[in-house]
Amino acid sequence: MSQAPARYTRVAVLFHWALAALLIGTFIGGELMVREWVPNRFTLYQWHKTFGILILVLSAGRLLWRLSHKPPALPGDTPAWQRAASHGTHWAFYVLMISMPLLGWAMVSASSLPVPTELFGVIPLPDLPVAESEAAEQRFKDWHHTGAKIFFALFLLHVGAALWHHFGKRDGLLSRMSLRRR
Ligand code: HEM
Ligand code: HEM
Repeated sequence: MSQAPARYTRVAVLFHWALAALLIGTFIGGELMVREWVPNRFTLYQWHKTFGILILVLSAGRLLWRLSHKPPALPGDTPAWQRAASHGTHWAFYVLMISMPLLGWAMVSASSLPVPTELFGVIPLPDLPVAESEAAEQRFKDWHHTGAKIFFALFLLHVGAALWHHFGKRDGLLSRMSLRRR
């Protein structure tokens, strides 16, 4: 078997930070647009859907890259529960990065409201082949909401772990995902 590399590949690092920025922005935009006091909610919805679909496309590419490129190994002294937590968090992120946009897409496809989705204001998004019904729309909405909560919890866990490695354990783990080459 080939040896694990010392750091993530340049492509994996670019995927990581581009998707982190898009996901955080889409999450915050989603939380804002559902509140009545927020201005320009319609525009926010359209951008939420545009960035959500962009996340889907990039995540599919990232998943293929991840499956075909070995990640660096965790430090040798990492306890088994931390290895499991790390792998579990990473794979749960992949599941959410693919399923959240699909659920959002299914939600708007099931809606009977005549609101077309135009990605970047120009590309029409076709409907997914799901039944158009209020019950189906509500079900996808509930799952999308639950996914958003799980995403937020994982995000806190992931960033907490990264900061603990950097400032507490000081084992240089963050530099394996750094945009700068050392
Ligand atoms: C990874 C990508 C996505 C993330 C992180 C995300 C996150 C969110 C969040 C945080 C909310 C509001 C809070 C909540 O309802 O609990 C929301 C609502 C919503 N999202 Fe997304 N979303 C994503 C992708 C999409 C996509 C691709 C679409 C549609 C094509 C979409 C359609 C919607 C709609 C229509 C709502 C409003 C639901 C309502 O009225 O309550 N989302 N999303
Ligand atoms: C929504 C935001 C984020 C998501 C979805 C996310 C997701 C991931 C995933 C899936 C991995 C596994 C590597 C891969 O498959 O490419 C990873 C690794 C990593 N992430 Fe994040 N990340 C996010 C934000 C952050 C932030 C803000 C930090 C720093 C504070 C961070 C630090 C790291 C580090 C250091 C690794 C490498 C861990 C290792 O070497 O085993 N991430 N991240």
